[in-house]
Amino acid sequence: MNILITGGAGFIGANFVKYMLKQHDYKIVNLDALTYAGNINNLTEIEEYENYHFVKGDICDRDLVDNLFTDYSIDTVINFAAESHVDRSIEEPEIFLKSNAFGTQVLLDIAKKHWKLDQDDKYSQAFKDNVKFIQVSTDEVYGELGAEGLFTETTPLAPNSPYSASKTSGDLLVRAYNETYGLPINITRCSNNYGPYQFPEKLIPLMINNALSEKSLPIYGDGKQVRDWLHVEDHCIAIDTVLHKGQSGEVYNIGGNNEKENIEIVKLILERLNKDKSLIEYVTDRLGHDRRYAIDNTKITTELGWSPKYTFEQGLEMTINWYLENQDWIKDVISGEYAKYYDEMYSQR
Ligand code: NAD
Ligand code: TYD
Repeated sequence: MNILITGGAGFIGANFVKYMLKQHDYKIVNLDALTYAGNINNLTEIEEYENYHFVKGDICDRDLVDNLFTDYSIDTVINFAAESHVDRSIEEPEIFLKSNAFGTQVLLDIAKKHWKLDQDDKYSQAFKDNVKFIQVSTDEVYGELGAEGLFTETTPLAPNSPYSASKTSGDLLVRAYNETYGLPINITRCSNNYGPYQFPEKLIPLMINNALSEKSLPIYGDGKQVRDWLHVEDHCIAIDTVLHKGQSGEVYNIGGNNEKENIEIVKLILERLNKDKSLIEYVTDRLGHDRRYAIDNTKITTELGWSPKYTFEQGLEMTINWYLENQDWIKDVISGEYAKYYDEMYSQR
């Protein structure tokens, strides 16, 4: 396979690129705009691989994407590239629509062109058997749950934040290219990830970082919101499984049956780091804060045979150890714009 992975310098993308290079001999082209969330240092251990190529650029850049398809004979796209943080989307929605919706449409359009989906059936069928477009999406497209119930693949899409609305737009375009042009696709919708290389704007790395520097730990609202947590390596294995076994046109939910309240997680982090609970500070809630997400993973477990490797306890221990052992990484990512971001997001809360 000649795979175009987009957003491969971010948290999940970098873990996935490295995972794939260890598992397979595929050619991998990593296209990433290196926004604040993208970090080339996440990829140093693979930069010498002959079957790996990094390209700095934007998925919205049609000519660039077109040239990459030609130069590398791309037959597979796995689209991770996105603006990914809900709080930022509340402050600045427009960039979310550009990258997550328009950027996805550019990738789809160039794939359609190179994979000859507008040619006659016999010719395009030969392509269809050997190409695939995977859209890496999120459970947030389903909106929020009350105390009961789980998201299945047929739960109506009802996004509540600009982030999840922009991801839903991307998903709907992917669906439309499948229905209209027969583009072979899968959409994966995963729950909250955690693990190495996650930018400390997200709950778990932010709390680890603040606890280590004995800064207050800001809990939004009452802290009883529920997320369904999955270790990033389990997510990578799930996407690899969908790539090889997923039925064309299908959506797969990915989750580890691992529901936790935010406050529980923060307390676990404080205990593990031997820090005092007095660091916890309840702050003003996020606007439109979704109360609960939880995934029904029956389809991917029964049809494709995937299941998570790690329990939350194992995964959290591994993650905290990684942040303890990689203090230079964290110091580097919080050295630039991060202080300004943190101040703007939290000082008035
Ligand atoms: P991230 O913010 O850590 O990384 C995003 C990457 O995309 C960065 O490297 C950034 O530079 C790049 N990027 C952004 N806009 C781009 C553009 N226009 N062109 C090229 N590159 C661009 O995000 P993440 O947490 O690794 O999430 C990756 C994907 O997985 C996203 O699509 C996200 O919606 C989805 N997802 C994330 C989670 C989670 O818990 N983090 C859960 C489910 C799904
Ligand atoms: P986050 O990591 O931003 O993921 P998402 O919003 O995509 O689920 O947040 C996870 C949960 O943690 C969410 O309910 C918001 C909450 N949270 C806080 O309470 N404080 C924080 O400082 C952050 C970043 C998140």
